[in-house]
Amino acid sequence: MIIAIDGPAAAGKGTLAKRLAVKLNFAYLDTGSLYRAVGLQMLRAGLDPSDALAAEAISSELDSSLFTDPDLRLETTASAASQVASIASVRVNLLNFQRNFAGKPPESKAGAVLDGRDIGTVVCPDASVKLYVTASAAVRARRRYDEIIARGDSAEYADVLADVEARDARDMGRIDAPLKPAEDAHLLDTSELDIDAVFSRVLAIIADQHLENSNDA
Ligand code: DC
Repeated sequence: MIIAIDGPAAAGKGTLAKRLAVKLNFAYLDTGSLYRAVGLQMLRAGLDPSDALAAEAISSELDSSLFTDPDLRLETTASAASQVASIASVRVNLLNFQRNFAGKPPESKAGAVLDGRDIGTVVCPDASVKLYVTASAAVRARRRYDEIIARGDSAEYADVLADVEARDARDMGRIDAPLKPAEDAHLLDTSELDIDAVFSRVLAIIADQHLENSNDA
């Protein structure tokens, strides 16, 4: 069973996906970390994240040690990730990794939860459950700003909002695999819902879907 969770930056996908994976004992893949790893490696090598040839080469030999690097979470890395993500050859290089994970989850788990931008539309179009999690840009920027302050770093809310909006525009506007809900995705606006409310809604959706699938069988 594959659960696909897509949506814009800071909508709460990651928290939801991790919690679901624990509850269902499924494997979890944060696909954004793959794009972040490519972006971070480009920055560290002093390369421009829009350099398509360099990004293609780096993404063809992904350095998995970067997946746990604390710098993966920096806003500068997020922005570089969003830039390399619009390069078609980078997306092709990362596609196999994601499909293999979904098709054969590690530790022989019975299913996988993947979160990203194009999981329901491109990576796993046959996923059993597709969720599109969103919230207004103002709410998402506020959450991201609170996270930054909570970990002791400093930021201006207006700058965080501008970053969120720039990333939305790039992720939704790119030609290849743009961020959009799959036709059969369940839409969840978390602007006014807390994580517990979102989680119970999603469990109900999964239970319904499971029932539908067993009735079809
Ligand atoms: O989810 P995130 O913020 O870690 O993602 C970082 C960037 O990676 C995001 O702005 C766009 C890109 N991305 C993508 O294009 N496709 C995915 N499936 C996941 C992330």
